[in-house]
Amino acid sequence: MGNQTSRAIDRKRESRRIRRRSTVTLGAQSHTSQGNYNWIDENTATSLSANGINAALAAAAQQQPSAHPNQQVVPPQPRRKSITEFFTKRKLSFSRPTEEDYREYDRLQRQHYLLKSARKSNSWVPMESSADKTFVDVGTGNGIWALEMASQHAQAQVLGLDIRLPPEQNLASMKNLRFIRTDIHERWPMSDAAVDLIFQRNMANHIKKEQWKTLLEEMYRVLKPGGSIELLELDPCHHNPGPVQKTFEEFSRTHWEELELDYDFSNAIKGYLEQVGFEVIEQRQLDIPIGEWPEESELKQFGFINKETQKAYLRNRKQELINKWGIPTEDYDLAVQEIMEEFEEYHGFSRFTCWMAKKPL
Ligand SMILES: C[S@@+](CC[C@H](N)C(=O)[O-])C[C@H]1O[C@@H](n2cnc3c(N)ncnc32)[C@H](O)[C@@H]1O
Repeated sequence: MGNQTSRAIDRKRESRRIRRRSTVTLGAQSHTSQGNYNWIDENTATSLSANGINAALAAAAQQQPSAHPNQQVVPPQPRRKSITEFFTKRKLSFSRPTEEDYREYDRLQRQHYLLKSARKSNSWVPMESSADKTFVDVGTGNGIWALEMASQHAQAQVLGLDIRLPPEQNLASMKNLRFIRTDIHERWPMSDAAVDLIFQRNMANHIKKEQWKTLLEEMYRVLKPGGSIELLELDPCHHNPGPVQKTFEEFSRTHWEELELDYDFSNAIKGYLEQVGFEVIEQRQLDIPIGEWPEESELKQFGFINKETQKAYLRNRKQELINKWGIPTEDYDLAVQEIMEEFEEYHGFSRFTCWMAKKPL
């Protein structure tokens, strides 16, 4: 990447650095989590104790997946070679958040408010009443969506699933909110037909191509008939790219492919939903400018915040990418600076796609 990037950025080498910052903070909450979660499996592995995990594994091994009309019933297969491998992986992935994680939580929080403002809501799924409803947030991250939903819908129960727990101030929060550490690609720790709404956002770079359908099948299993899912995912490439951005994205595509992720997932999701048995209600695109190039004032605001989140994303992934691509740190910084300018020059924008679907009654 070094040579190609350098060529692309040579013509702008003297460009000035853009230094803008905005911060968003979340007020600390101080309630204890004590909601009614009868709809979660008894054996749910909410702690790291070996007994808890063994119990959850034993229960999962005994449970047959329930079938729906379009789903083939396959006998349960052993998922890992050994229990040691299981614990080793858990120990690594269930580690406490690092400093980088906190920087990423900050970026995700900013993006959360951006999307909430642009969508004028935390969810587009129509809801007559949230009383006694259960919502699940898949890959909850810093937990902000789950936290806000629990706060707005006091009579609903909200559950955030993630391989890591959110930062402490979001953990001890509302009595109708609970977070569970779990791998979303394993069987979810809840019974069939227990959930009214499943929300998933920004997870495409954690779902391998081959995992999409299985994940949607698990969502189908835990949803009540008539229950909904809402997926909100960002295209991995930005639109209207300039030359440096284009070069950057070629490498990004290779990176996704090496990780067996699906760079073109947005063309595939509707088909997966239908194959699994969902009734697709709507697929809606949401384009958000990157930069202050729009004339319209609200879009300009969104563009400003979106550019900050893009900058933070590239900064947060810097070490990983320079190691991977073998480029000097100054080249990476310069490329990021150029990309920021290209967003303004070429009128770059991000495209989010929202899929809303129902499990038939
Ligand atoms: C990009 S963040 C998205 C967070 C949140 N959905 C949002 O939009 O703000 C991805 C999250 O998925 C979690 N994650 C990744 N792989 C996972 C897995 N296999 N099971 C559970 N969570 C996972 C990560 O820990 C991280 O919090």
